[in-house]
Amino acid sequence: MTAKIIDGKALATQVKQAVRGEVEKLVAAGVLPGLAVVLVGDDPASQIYVRNKKKNCEELGIASQVYHLPADTKEEELKALVDQLNADPKVHGILVQLPLPAPLREEEVTAQINPEKDVDGFHPVNLGRLLRGEKGLCPCTPAGILALIKASGVEVVGRDCVVVGRSNIVGKPVAHLLLQEHATVTICHSRTRNLADLTRRADLLVVAVGKAGLIDGSMVKPGAVVIDVGMNRLPSGKVVGDVDFPSVLEVAGAITPVPGGVGPMTIAMLMKNTVEAAILQNGEKLGKD
Ligand code: GUN
Repeated sequence: MTAKIIDGKALATQVKQAVRGEVEKLVAAGVLPGLAVVLVGDDPASQIYVRNKKKNCEELGIASQVYHLPADTKEEELKALVDQLNADPKVHGILVQLPLPAPLREEEVTAQINPEKDVDGFHPVNLGRLLRGEKGLCPCTPAGILALIKASGVEVVGRDCVVVGRSNIVGKPVAHLLLQEHATVTICHSRTRNLADLTRRADLLVVAVGKAGLIDGSMVKPGAVVIDVGMNRLPSGKVVGDVDFPSVLEVAGAITPVPGGVGPMTIAMLMKNTVEAAILQNGEKLGKD
């Protein structure tokens, strides 16, 4: 059996089309959604991500501003910029690109963002809402993963889901989203014993570690849905996920490719969150509360 390939690019295009419609409605009501992206230092991957975010904003009619600060920026300076953006009514979404150069503390900086403008969903208030199953801005990659799973048509209720990786950005939030969808969720990580025994039990396997080839076909249950969140650049320059695509393709029921799977969905969800934030902050103007 060869797995179905889940087309993240196509689904992202659909999501963005819907977002463009929302942007048009907002603009007609006098609200131009705005996203501020803060990049500190010169990490080449981050520079590419930020450029891509700006390009997507332009395509959808969202106003965007990029603030590029030097790597030796002091935490107080960065927090002062966040405060300035918190106070700016034209800015509805604020994103500080991670990772931050040392010694800047990501928890401190992300906690400085107004939770209503926190389009990354990394603020403790938004993560707390996610934990409690309440409405709030949800981290983009996990939200994109859930949309991909739903689009794959797989039943989640009561199924065994295994998440490999426990980061605050992906592993932990996606586990909670799946729990919210009534899955039985197991989280594995670097200290997990017998990883393969656990992954082989998964009807749905989400891998977000950052290690090329971590999961091969022998570790996957026949027919499982496999979501590969990894983005690893090989010495050859080729970008691959955490899943050994050729061997898993022969075992899984469905799989996301890298590139073209989770990545495009992350951006689409960022655009969606920016519009949601703009709606949230303009309740009165839009005749809602
Ligand atoms: N770095 C890698 N992924 C992300 C993300 O989703 N948001 C931010 N801000 N930085 C990242």
